[in-house]
This record gives sequence, structure tokens and C-alpha cells, in this order.
Amino acid sequence: MIFMTLLFILFLLASVTCQFIPDPRQYQTSVLIGTRLFSFGGYTGKPEYTKETVILDLSKPFYTSHPTWSRDTKGTAPMSSEFSTSCLSPIDTSTVYIIGGVSYDEVSSSFVKPSLVYTFNSIDSTWSPFTTSGFTTFDSNMSNVYNDIQAIMRHGLIYIFGGTNTSSPQESNLTTISTIITTMSVLNTKKMTWLFFNFTDTPTPREAYTATLLKNGYIVYIGGTEKPNGASNETSVNMNNIPIFDTDDLTWISMTASGDTVGSRNSHSAVLTNDGKIIIFGGQSGYGFVHVSPDLAILDTNSNPYKWIIPSISTANAPPPLAGHSSILYNNYMVIIFGRQTTVQPIIGTVPLMNNQVYLFDVEKSVWVSYFKSNSSGKCTISYIGIIATIFSLLIVIDWNWLLLL
Ligand SMILES: *[C@@H]1O[C@H](CO)[C@@H](O)[C@H](O)[C@H]1NC(C)=O
Ligand SMILES: *[C@@H]1O[C@H](CO)[C@@H](O)[C@H](O)[C@H]1NC(C)=O
Ligand SMILES: *[C@@H]1O[C@H](CO)[C@@H](O)[C@H](O)[C@H]1NC(C)=O
Ligand SMILES: *[C@@H]1O[C@H](CO)[C@@H](O)[C@H](O)[C@H]1NC(C)=O
Ligand SMILES: *[C@@H]1O[C@H](CO)[C@@H](O)[C@H](O)[C@H]1NC(C)=O
Repeated sequence: MIFMTLLFILFLLASVTCQFIPDPRQYQTSVLIGTRLFSFGGYTGKPEYTKETVILDLSKPFYTSHPTWSRDTKGTAPMSSEFSTSCLSPIDTSTVYIIGGVSYDEVSSSFVKPSLVYTFNSIDSTWSPFTTSGFTTFDSNMSNVYNDIQAIMRHGLIYIFGGTNTSSPQESNLTTISTIITTMSVLNTKKMTWLFFNFTDTPTPREAYTATLLKNGYIVYIGGTEKPNGASNETSVNMNNIPIFDTDDLTWISMTASGDTVGSRNSHSAVLTNDGKIIIFGGQSGYGFVHVSPDLAILDTNSNPYKWIIPSISTANAPPPLAGHSSILYNNYMVIIFGRQTTVQPIIGTVPLMNNQVYLFDVEKSVWVSYFKSNSSGKCTISYIGIIATIFSLLIVIDWNWLLLL
């Protein structure tokens, strides 16, 4: 009986550990590896950035009220950071490259420059600095940090267009003391060296855009802010102005999208569906978490020119408008995590409205849903066994208590 009671307590403890809820955060970087959505770092305000690695398990079904989060304690990063970018190696499908971002040292309470590139081995949750050469501004000991970028990896090469070059990073002036990188910067992961493409037709350099790799090797750049040559301030990129980089020919293609009018934005998210549609969500207008409209839009890359479509979607189960969140596609779901709520007017001096809820958009039915139906049922059986065993041990505990009354 004591054994069964212990078993019951163990089950209780197990169910408590399963209910890990991560702190709300923004500007983390996230990557899907198999059935696990990994999220690294981000601003939590506790006190600044986190070193935490958290995982949303997509191998099991869940309701968005009870997402399958866990903390990867072994995978805690060597640096706390935000504004990093990450990409999964398509070669071994287990190594993640985490590039750029700004870091905070809790001991000295100051903003510091992390290593330019780290690798995270998702098999054993280990981190290593990845020493590169050729990008003097960032891989040397200069204090400048590389921010507001999105990396795309194809074969052994990582492509990063634009981004900011920020000196002496401070949270308060991250955006005011930055310049924009003008090149397509390419990391050869085999040689660990950077090379740069700066063609005469390189688009206006930009930051805080989304980059999406199509099946044909095109990288599609959407939104962000740009700084035309000679301009003193950055301006929002027109959403119809969509530069494409062809990774086969190493050429730029300029695309002017048609269709519905989509409001300019940065710090939004983009996922590619299996049928060649890019779904963008959220983002902010300028800086200060100002709301943009519409919240969700679809870029159809099957038509020439590409075409924007604003679907009409029921607001049931919809997320609040977010920026600095992450989205990935898994089966027919766009999974949205973290980010900060945007508002009509910038909110100054109050606690940021950061998110730790999970939101799901069914891309086939074009509807927000609250239930994630995983297609692999294997692990599900284990949890049913767990539930049955819990009930069983509970019955025995009750029985044992009843016996005491005799
Ligand atoms: C850069 O920093 C490393 C480690 O802190 C040090 O070993 C190296 O000498 C420094 N290089 C330069 C050029 O200052
Ligand atoms: C950035 O902000 C910090 C503190 O707010 C200040 O000490 C620093 O001088 C600022 N840097 C620039 C270049 O304005
Ligand atoms: C980044 O800015 C520094 C000045 O803070 C400058 O010396 C350097 O050349 C810039 N690097 C690039 C790649 O724009
Ligand atoms: C890239 O080309 C632009 C326009 O010709 C020039 O202004 C910029 O300095 C170049 N950048 C680099 C890193 O060579
Ligand atoms: C650039 O931004 C500053 C600060 O927001 C503003 O004072 C200035 O008028 C802007 N300049 C232009 C040309 O828009």
C-alpha cells in the first residue's frame, strides 16, 4: 500500500512537472526540429534576457489551454540574448546555428557582445561557440552586434541579408545607434568563413524583415524597415516590394506583388505552406509595438507576380495582435508562440504585454483552433497508460483510507 501511495505521489509530481509554463517573452528565436519546437532566449524582463531553452512537444495532441511545454535544462544557453536568428542544418537536421543578437551579463548588469555564431546540438542539448572569420565587424572583438536578421540555410551555406550593425548595445538606444548592413552576407559552414555579395542590383538594405525559402531555392524577403542610400532615417518597406534572392544563380530578382493592400510592418512572422503560400502574421508599424493591419495575410507565390490575399477569418481562438513572436508550420498548423501584444498607440512606461500562450491556425481550413491534433499517436498511448495507472493507484489509495476507518 505504501508503495502504491508513493507511486500515486510520483504520478502527481509527474503531472505537475508536465505543466511547465514558460515566462512570457519577446524576440526569442525558434526552430522546428522533428516534432519539437525549440525556442532560445528572448527578452523576459527578469531582469533582461533569458538563457532558457524551452520546447513545445508537437508529437502529442494538446489543447492550447494546456500546451506541451518543457524546459530543456541541459540546453540552457551560454549567453542570455534577444534578436538572434537561428536555422537548422538541412545536412544533419539536428544542428542549429544561432547567429547574432545582443546579450546581457547578469553579473556586471551590462549589455555584452556574445560570440557571433553558436551551434546547438539538439540530440544532446549542448552548445558550442562556432568561430568564424571574414566578418570583421562581428567576429572580431569589436563591441558591435548583428541584429534584426533572419538566416536561411540551404546546403552548407547560411544567407543573411541586411540587418543592423549596433555599437555599444543598450536596450534604450538599440535602434538609434544602428547602421544597416548593405550586403547579402553568406556563411560557409564547412569553411567557417563569411563572404559577401554586393551586386549593383542589391535591394535597399533592410532589417526586421522575414525571409522564407521556397522549394525552388528562392529566398523571399517580406517587410521590415529600410534605409535608402543617403537617407538619415529608416522607413517601412512597402509590402508589395518583395526582393527575391535566387540561391541557385546567386542573383536578385525584383518582384512587385499584386492583390490586396497589406499594411507595412516589421518584426512579423512568416511560414510557408506545402502549396507555396507564405502566411504572415502580426508585426509592428515602426518601433513601439504599434498595431498593423491586417493581422494575417497570405502571399501566393504560385502566381506571377506574387499575389497578396487577405482572408476573412473568424476571430474565435485568434491571438491578440503580436510582434516579436515566432511562427512555424507543422502539418496543417501554423503554431504561434511568445511575442508582445501591439496596441493602437505606443504604450510607454508600463509593463510590456508579453505573451506565453500558444495559438494555432489551421492553414487548410483557414480557421484559428484551440486543439492540436498530432498525427503521431505513439506517445499518446503512453499518456493514456499514465492516466489509467494514476486512476488505478488513486483507487488503491482511497481503498487504503477506507480500510483505516474500520
Ligand atoms: C579577442 O578576445 C580574445 C578572448 O577574449 C583574446 O584571446 C584575443 O587576443 C582578442 N583579440 C584581439 C585582436 O584583441
Ligand atoms: C546608449 O544609452 C546608454 C544608456 O542609456 C548611454 O550610456 C550611451 O551613451 C548611449 N549611447 C549612444 C551612442 O547614444
Ligand atoms: C559597423 O559599424 C562600425 C562603426 O560602429 C563600422 O566601423 C563598421 O565598418 C560597420 N560594419 C559594417 C559591416 O557595416
Ligand atoms: C555595397 O554597395 C553599396 C552601393 O554600391 C555601397 O554603398 C556599400 O558601401 C557597399 N558595401 C560594402 C560592404 O561593400
Ligand atoms: C528622422 O528622425 C528624427 C527622430 O525621430 C526626426 O527628428 C527627424 O525629423 C527625422 N528626419 C526625417 C528627414 O524624417
